[in-house]
Amino acid sequence: MESGSWVDIDASHVLHLEFDRQYPIVVRGRGVWVEDSAGRRYLDAMSGGSMAATLGHGRGDIIAAARIQAERLAYVHNERLTNPAQEHLAQRLVEVAPEGFSRVRFVTSGSEANELALQLARSYHVERGEPQRWQVISPAQAYHGPTMATLALTGRPGLQRPFGPYMANHLHIPPSTWRFDPTGEAALEALDRALDEAGPDNVSAFLCEAISAAALPAYTPPQRFWDGLAERRERHGFLICFDEVVTGMGRTGRWFAGEGTPLAPDIIATAKGLGAGYAAIGAVLCREHVYEAFAQGSRRFTLGHTWDGAPLACAVGLAVIDALRSEDLVERVRDRGLRLREELAAALEGIPLVREVRGHGFLLGVEFVDPRDGESFLAPELGVAGRIDGAAFSRGLITYSTQPTRDGYAGDQTLFAPPFTSTDDELAEMVARFAEAVERIANEVESQLAEREPASPVPGREAG
Ligand SMILES: Cc1ncc(COP(=O)(O)O)c(C=O)c1O
Repeated sequence: MESGSWVDIDASHVLHLEFDRQYPIVVRGRGVWVEDSAGRRYLDAMSGGSMAATLGHGRGDIIAAARIQAERLAYVHNERLTNPAQEHLAQRLVEVAPEGFSRVRFVTSGSEANELALQLARSYHVERGEPQRWQVISPAQAYHGPTMATLALTGRPGLQRPFGPYMANHLHIPPSTWRFDPTGEAALEALDRALDEAGPDNVSAFLCEAISAAALPAYTPPQRFWDGLAERRERHGFLICFDEVVTGMGRTGRWFAGEGTPLAPDIIATAKGLGAGYAAIGAVLCREHVYEAFAQGSRRFTLGHTWDGAPLACAVGLAVIDALRSEDLVERVRDRGLRLREELAAALEGIPLVREVRGHGFLLGVEFVDPRDGESFLAPELGVAGRIDGAAFSRGLITYSTQPTRDGYAGDQTLFAPPFTSTDDELAEMVARFAEAVERIANEVESQLAEREPASPVPGREAG
């Protein structure tokens, strides 16, 4: 169908996330480009908007694998039946996972993967005769999904509202970013307070991202924090779960970001890049000692969803891993990502609005601050992050920025996460368009700020 024939689409029946937003209707994608119904083309620096489309759009090999599997067997439920695609994919994942991760259960989304990680951790303790362990401690400034269980894992009241009554009472610690806790000591003290408050014997798991995605783009805690966390796990017996929904499957230049942290987790939840945007699939991996608790105990881990381990989605996962391996894409992301961060930093150099460019592989983050002191958060009503996305979009570039959070732990920031298959020219074009967008908004913001109260380095925390 030609692009012109999409123009009459009535987009008024979908309950969109924001009612006042004009949603561009994307009708096709090829490589790192997508095209809307009016024929405008955009460079997709966000891998489909959510970091899932790691291989770009319109990949013939993945589409063919899905078609072949659909023709052979699209679906059977995994409660009483299994299928070759599920078994092969589990085997492949174990091959690329960090050492010791030997068992896999499939799900269909990142939230489901995180929920399953929680269930697995809790059931592990029950199997071992510690049924009182249920509480989870996790960093406050994070996003683990929109389900009730995953919403309770973040300490962001703005996200939880109005679902507070459904939220389990988990405990949270502040991020150890340069602003609050550059050494990681304050986060460890907060962890100790949380352990005291819960009673260490009631804690089931510590759940976090090894490298953050949207909530604190490309941020990872300092070494001291990881060492202290490992030591507390040893002392108190809780498990460590990594939310690798974004970072798993190569995004940070390693198969799993946790390979780069000083401690090995017990459970990993992953999703987006496993289906690369071609199928809804996620997975939870655990180390042998977690599996052994069940193997020596009830020998069951029930509860599952209709689409868990379905042949169609697993065939896509297999084709994705084949592509990542045969094209050495994880290595490319690692090596090219280093240069990409340098290129992005160079393009943004000298713009006082930009405080920091962080990055691991093809997961990069840009943090914006008040240009008058180079440190304070920008006033939320300036809407800087949203304006940067808007300016980028009008230049034919898709980025994803996050606004200041109510708890005061993060300000305006942009995530930059292109498909692993982006060519050098495409990356250069993304960087150039983004720098132009930032420069334009930086100039506007500077004139707006000239008429305002001086910057205040003390972060303003909104109650609730
Ligand atoms: C780090 C992280 N965890 C979990 C999720 C939830 O995944 P899903 O939207 O597939 O449920 C997301 C989604 O963006 C995420 O970024």
